[in-house]
Amino acid sequence: MRACLSLNDIPEGIPMKVNIGTQLVVIIRRGSKVWAISPYCPHRGADIWKGDIVDETIRCYLHGYIYDLNTGAPILIPFSDKYSGWRETGNLIRFPVDEYGGEVCITIP
Ligand code: FES
Repeated sequence: MRACLSLNDIPEGIPMKVNIGTQLVVIIRRGSKVWAISPYCPHRGADIWKGDIVDETIRCYLHGYIYDLNTGAPILIPFSDKYSGWRETGNLIRFPVDEYGGEVCITIP
C-alpha cells in the first residue's frame, strides 16, 4: 500500500501519526528530509512519537534510548553498562519514503 501527501502538510520536527491502510505510521520531517517509522519503540514498545526529535534522531521518552532515523539503529542506550540483558533493543521499523517535487510517498510493504 502506498500513500502520498504534500511536504508542506508535514509539520517540521513534530512527529505526525497517520493511518496507511491498517498500519499506523509516524511521519517525521526535518527540512526536506522525511522519515516514516513504526509508532512503537523497539525497546519496550512505548509510543515513540511522544519522544523528542533532535537533528536526525528520535529520543524515546520512556527510557531515553536514542535512535538514528536514517538507519533505525540505536545510537545511545543509557546505562548500558548496567542491566545489560534488559537494555537490549532492536532497530526502529522504518518504511520507505520517496519524494517527488514537494510530494512525499510512503510505502507499506
Ligand atoms: S521503551 Fe523506548 S527506550 Fe524503553
